[in-house]
Amino acid sequence: MSDLKGKDILHGNQFSKKDIDAIIKTTANFEKALKGKDSLTLLKGKILATLFFEPSTRTRLSFETAMHRLGGGVVSMASGESSSAAKGETVADTARTVSQYADVIVIRHPRIGSAKEAADSAPIPVINAGDGAGQHPTQALLDIYTIYKERGSLKNLTVSMVGDLKYGRTVHALVELLSLFQARLYFVSPGLLRMPEEITSHLKEKGIEIVETEDIGEAAKASDLIYMTRIQKERFTDLSEYEKTKGRYIIDGEFLRRLKKEITILHPLPRVDEISTEVDGYPGAAYFRQVRNGVFVRMALLAMVLGKR
Ligand code: CP
Repeated sequence: MSDLKGKDILHGNQFSKKDIDAIIKTTANFEKALKGKDSLTLLKGKILATLFFEPSTRTRLSFETAMHRLGGGVVSMASGESSSAAKGETVADTARTVSQYADVIVIRHPRIGSAKEAADSAPIPVINAGDGAGQHPTQALLDIYTIYKERGSLKNLTVSMVGDLKYGRTVHALVELLSLFQARLYFVSPGLLRMPEEITSHLKEKGIEIVETEDIGEAAKASDLIYMTRIQKERFTDLSEYEKTKGRYIIDGEFLRRLKKEITILHPLPRVDEISTEVDGYPGAAYFRQVRNGVFVRMALLAMVLGKR
């Protein structure tokens, strides 16, 4: 069995297949253990600190919910402006300070590499909840758990990733996990937002089959699953590039009818306009189940890094 005790969670590439198996099993156990109960007592006396220098609804609140459901406590910083970062304190000093109060840190920050900086400075486990356009490994783990539940297996999948593949930290992390299971990948994006070359070449070295295209219809026809993402206005330095790419890919009822098959649709959320609300009732639309799975996966991760699973 894999052992995450005392470890940081920083990047999708740190996990082996054995780790994924262990995380899925532990998550499923927590999901089952919580049925009919409000909370457990496994992490009673432990404290989680959430340090968020960028906006979040799901990641911060699901980590905090997970800690409460495990019987632990939470201290929270919901924005950089409300902390001493506004006075110029570094991420390293903030993390070292907070490690005097808490047993585990979850951090989101707009700069790539910031979670690693926090982890290098703090003597307690640090979990990356998104470092700019870099990585979002816990989102990838909840995506994998959702795929496993929705499809019944992680093997032999063809997955289309659609939208902002250049700045999308969720897809950057998820491809690392899908590559462990030899998934075939379609990367669907406008030319300006293609998957970074260092990621595609790394995947090709691992023998992963990749098709890069701007045609969502072609990719969807060949896929078991579409992983939709938002074009992230906040990541563009040139807003004219955002204007050129926004609204490019939209899944609506007409798109699904033309597809003539059932396909699983995931989205890390938030969405803007890329999935029409009329799709929400479609049986394969799994993005709100995906949100719920986030709590169970994060319960598993908190328990595992604290050596309490
Ligand atoms: N999926 C995700 O990271 O959502 P939030 O930005 O709301 O945390």
